[in-house]
Amino acid sequence: MPDDATTTDVLVIGSGIAGLAAALAAAREDDDVTLATKATRPEGASSWWAQGGIAVSRDTPEEFKADIMAASDGTADPDAVDVLVENANEAVEDVLLETLDVEFDQNGSGHDFTREAAHSEDRILHVDAATGKHIHVPFLNYVDDHDGVEILDDTAALELVRHEGRVHGAMLESDGEVEPYFAGSVVLATGGIGDLYPRTTNPDNTTGDGIGMAALAGAEIEDMEYVQFHPTACVLEDNEVAFLVSEAVRGEGGLLRNGDGERFMPGYHADAELAPRDVVARAVKAEREATGEVTLDVSPLDFAAEFPGLVERCEEHGIDWTEGIPVAPAEHFLCGGISVDDRGRTTLDQLYAVGECSRTGVHGANRLASTSLLEGLVWGLRAGEDAAGAEPEPIETPELLERDPDLPERFARDKFQRLTRVMDENVGVERDPAELQRAMAVLRRLKGEVDAYVRTRTSRSLYELRHASVTALLVARHAAENEESVGTHNLVDASEDPPEPTAD
Ligand code: FAD
Ligand code: SIN
Repeated sequence: MPDDATTTDVLVIGSGIAGLAAALAAAREDDDVTLATKATRPEGASSWWAQGGIAVSRDTPEEFKADIMAASDGTADPDAVDVLVENANEAVEDVLLETLDVEFDQNGSGHDFTREAAHSEDRILHVDAATGKHIHVPFLNYVDDHDGVEILDDTAALELVRHEGRVHGAMLESDGEVEPYFAGSVVLATGGIGDLYPRTTNPDNTTGDGIGMAALAGAEIEDMEYVQFHPTACVLEDNEVAFLVSEAVRGEGGLLRNGDGERFMPGYHADAELAPRDVVARAVKAEREATGEVTLDVSPLDFAAEFPGLVERCEEHGIDWTEGIPVAPAEHFLCGGISVDDRGRTTLDQLYAVGECSRTGVHGANRLASTSLLEGLVWGLRAGEDAAGAEPEPIETPELLERDPDLPERFARDKFQRLTRVMDENVGVERDPAELQRAMAVLRRLKGEVDAYVRTRTSRSLYELRHASVTALLVARHAAENEESVGTHNLVDASEDPPEPTAD
């Protein structure tokens, strides 16, 4: 065992809402916590970008549970959903209202609860449509000021340190230097997989690192085929995503129109614009293909008064919102991930996973809007508390230090381009089984090429590419293995004409 090993009680990897909640809970148990994050600014976490808000239970948790189950097409795990809805209000009260003093929007009679697609009641706490930063910034500051927590920013976890089914720590890279960090418990809170797709609402460098590291260490990974595409990302003329247009805009009356100016959602689903997200995403895709574009008509609401932040974003990008906002589906959220139990425990000893990188079972095949911040908060607190109290046990680690750090930029760029093209064309909103097989073959080859580099080089970008290739292959493989179209996993026969929309 190395004498000069760097140790901490709990090592949290990632500084979004889930990682911060885990760090806070472990520190409340008097453990020493180290939180490593590759972000250099709060904007590096999806949590900062969250718009619509955070859902809570109103009259009874049962109604909230029923909506989650329905949005997931009955595929969510009812026990996990119970954990979420029964702990929602206490977690929000404790951390967001009492500890952080987040000032959610009010109306004359108290909190201004709003509604998003597939919610049967107004239950979403929000601040304008910019809720994320109003939670994330005070949370980050609070945890940073906590005596029991040390935050290492611009620090990336490259690999887990594991021996015989127990995780002992992680290899952390900062400023080109790599060193092992040993911990009693490790909590992965690394967020989603946006960088696997060319169009995403996620911030840059969302490369599925936690899932990649956990999979390579042998942890169980589930439900990776359930990739949620948000139906209304505002797109520019070149189809690049400019920003997300919150579902709350449709909740307040916004209407989707196709290139012929027709409102089409009533033809796809009885709940029209407020149908579950996967249904709306497929409809928007189909109407864009058939008529050239889809716009979000905000004339039925007082857009400027209700969504001043989005008005600003439109203006920044030269979009005249009074004419409708051009929208397209974009990768938004991964429902699956590292399998965990109700305390965030993975299948490896002393390894926890929380937030978007984890698979709690709460979302099943399709997530209900505004439940992700909540899941990160609830499971972060539970996992952090459970992770506390274990002693670090340093072990010998492989020498990553002595390897050549440089990765030819062109290599990384070319591989990422190949990866995102395959994911977009074959593992996107709709999947054809034959194309999934082809995608797997390409991704397997790509992963092999990246693995060969990893044997000789150590750099953050190479490891991000490695985690992206492992994660992309998992998404494609799970999609190929699941023969049932459900929620976000939608199988088609690409050789046939697309079906006509039918009202149901
Ligand atoms: P994140 O907040 O993404 O944080 C991940 C952290 O891990 C980052 O700090 C990152 O730098 C770090 N990290 C990653 N890899 C490594 C590594 N190898 N080493 C060190 N650090 C690493 N959900 C809602 O409930 N309500 C909403 O209104 C809502 N709106 C959204 C709007 C947008 C535009 C987006 C993108 C998402 C939205 N979501 C919303 C989803 C929700 O924001 C995310 O699912 C949630 O914030 C994820 O939290 P997290 O803590 O798991 O991950
Ligand atoms: C949105 O505001 O539309 C995003 C909400 C979410 O992803 O939960």
